[in-house]
Amino acid sequence: MVDSSSSMSTSSVTTPPSPFRASILQGKVALITGGATGIGFEIATQLAAHGACISLMGRRAHVLEAAVSSLEKAGFQAIGLQGDVRKKEDANRVVEETVQRFGRLDILVNNAAGNFLVVAEDLSPNGFRTVLDIDAVGTFTMCHAALKYLKRGGIGRDPSESGLIINITATLHYTAQWYQIHVSAAKAAVDSLTRSLSLEWGTDYGIHVNGIAPGPIKDTPGMEKLAPEDAGMDQAKRETWGEKWDIALTAVFLASDAGRHINGTVLAVDNGAWLKKPAP
Ligand code: HXC
Repeated sequence: MVDSSSSMSTSSVTTPPSPFRASILQGKVALITGGATGIGFEIATQLAAHGACISLMGRRAHVLEAAVSSLEKAGFQAIGLQGDVRKKEDANRVVEETVQRFGRLDILVNNAAGNFLVVAEDLSPNGFRTVLDIDAVGTFTMCHAALKYLKRGGIGRDPSESGLIINITATLHYTAQWYQIHVSAAKAAVDSLTRSLSLEWGTDYGIHVNGIAPGPIKDTPGMEKLAPEDAGMDQAKRETWGEKWDIALTAVFLASDAGRHINGTVLAVDNGAWLKKPAP
């Protein structure tokens, strides 16, 4: 059992111990975009706590350094690689350096995302494009860069084994969300990528491609931006939000043998919240 309520979490909440053995991802290598903060960092921490070597990709060197140092202090193997998922050359370099360092790549987590609240009327086409570029095009760019290593028989891996892609998405486009037209469109595209890639790359190369759609999650840069503490939201409502741990342990589950028959699906991890949107 892994004590995942470890000091690695920046959250003040306590979470239960992991239900998984600490060795279930031993020998695996995971690359997490936007992996130095928030949900991405918790996914990195939990994949590491279950045995994986970790490569973090992010835009800010000092944030990456702090994240890597925390992981190393906890006894995990981790590197941080600066890069922007919107740039093909960054994507290729980060994937190559990950494989140079750890000898293989098994798990790609596309977590990097852009977000801000804006009424559609005030959003410029470039603002709309920017979020599509980060979330949707960035996800495709990373998948493309990683393909040759994730294929069945990719470098360093047993010929029968293949890799896994986890796309972090959202639930807001299942219906519609105020001031999120750009993010809703981007995440709808990400979910479509998940299905198309799982069809083509699942069939041709045995790669599993799945999504995780978090609902509101406590203590994340995204929610600080979308629902800041000083915005007057009912505290009882905040208490219903999930923990980063909930998303990270879902990633561990998908990466484990228990996820071997799951492909092309998106798991909404929100305690059913999107089903309960109040009627107007
Ligand atoms: C209106 C804005 C804006 C804002 C940027 N733009 N911020 N428009 N309101 N608040 C517009 C700019 O005017 C510009 O258009 C275009 O977007 C590009 O802006 P830049 O600042 O040049 O872009 P860049 O520096 O690349 O930054 C992109 C960014 C990013 C998307 C703003 O820095 C960002 O948001 N980072 C936040 C990361 C984050 O919060 N991650 C968590 C995601 S949470 P013009 O026309 O002027 O050129 C998440 C969960 C969703 O995704 C689900 C929740 C339930």
